[in-house]
Amino acid sequence: MTKYVPVEDNNHQRASSLEIGQIDNINTTGFQRYFLKKDDFHQIDKDALFSGREINFSIFINKDFDFQPVINASDNMPQKVSPEILDMEGDIAIKASDIPLYNKYLKFLEDVDLPDNNKTILMKEKSKIILRDVLADPRDSENIKRSSAAVEKIADTILNNNDALYDLLSIINYDYYLYTHSVNVAVLSIGLGVSIGLPKKEISNLGLGAILHDIGKSSIPPEILNKSGRLTESEFKIMKFHVLEGAKILRRHKCFPEESFPAVTQHHEKLSGMGYPFGIKASNMKLYGKITAIADCYDSLTARTPYKYPLAPFSALNIIVKETENYDHELLAAFIKMLGRVKKVEEK
Ligand SMILES: [Fe+2]
Repeated sequence: MTKYVPVEDNNHQRASSLEIGQIDNINTTGFQRYFLKKDDFHQIDKDALFSGREINFSIFINKDFDFQPVINASDNMPQKVSPEILDMEGDIAIKASDIPLYNKYLKFLEDVDLPDNNKTILMKEKSKIILRDVLADPRDSENIKRSSAAVEKIADTILNNNDALYDLLSIINYDYYLYTHSVNVAVLSIGLGVSIGLPKKEISNLGLGAILHDIGKSSIPPEILNKSGRLTESEFKIMKFHVLEGAKILRRHKCFPEESFPAVTQHHEKLSGMGYPFGIKASNMKLYGKITAIADCYDSLTARTPYKYPLAPFSALNIIVKETENYDHELLAAFIKMLGRVKKVEEK
């Protein structure tokens, strides 16, 4: 039987009050093998697939540290999606080499008459691919411009349709992917920005900083990023470096607005001064830093990884709320209200 043991989050180095459930029966060799293969695949949302529709890319199920093929398709041999595949447990993934075909499929579906919520998922899928490209090549300015265009679309969608936020908030995946986390943090930050009445221009600047908040992780060695156990002190020092590295990368991009920087440089700061990299206190934290700190923490707590069970939204909020000294009270109240509204949409 799976046993839960307390663990601190490697990214946030939580105090004991923020312990989350770790799965303690990890097969280390299988786990390492899995991480070597993981980058060869790309996680996709089940809602982007439609039963009976033809696809020309292969589909895999990511479960138990393995990627099992479930549809073998190609340009020469398209296959129909069966309903059973959409019911299978685990993440659906495609080969990373099939991303261009998947992108074409998403583009094709743009012109198909689909319900709004499906269109929203397709937009999120495209954003995840852009983020994957950004993290693979953070120095390419075209990728930053594409991120900016993706943020505009997310912001417009949320501004035009309150219910879109729910469609955009990720279903809980079997595994954690930095590109999905980046898009989730942008969605949550934009949602919070809209909730507190920020003007459109500010929503865009906030969203761009939020979607690129972890861009510096592209420079962190994968063995530290993907470590299943607690980081050593020296490993955590390297992990913390991602914040300044992110700012350094973005400084080189003239198209990245000055106003967006606090979302990147302050997303691990805490009002109490106990955050990193500078340990600045509330009076020196900017609004975008305070917003992304809440969004980042919430998404990390509710994310599942192969070695950590996800927290339910209520439990995650309960943990954040207890840290009264670390997060802005008014923003947190607006954040809870926003997620409460999302929950109501879910119950409809
Ligand atoms: Fe981070």
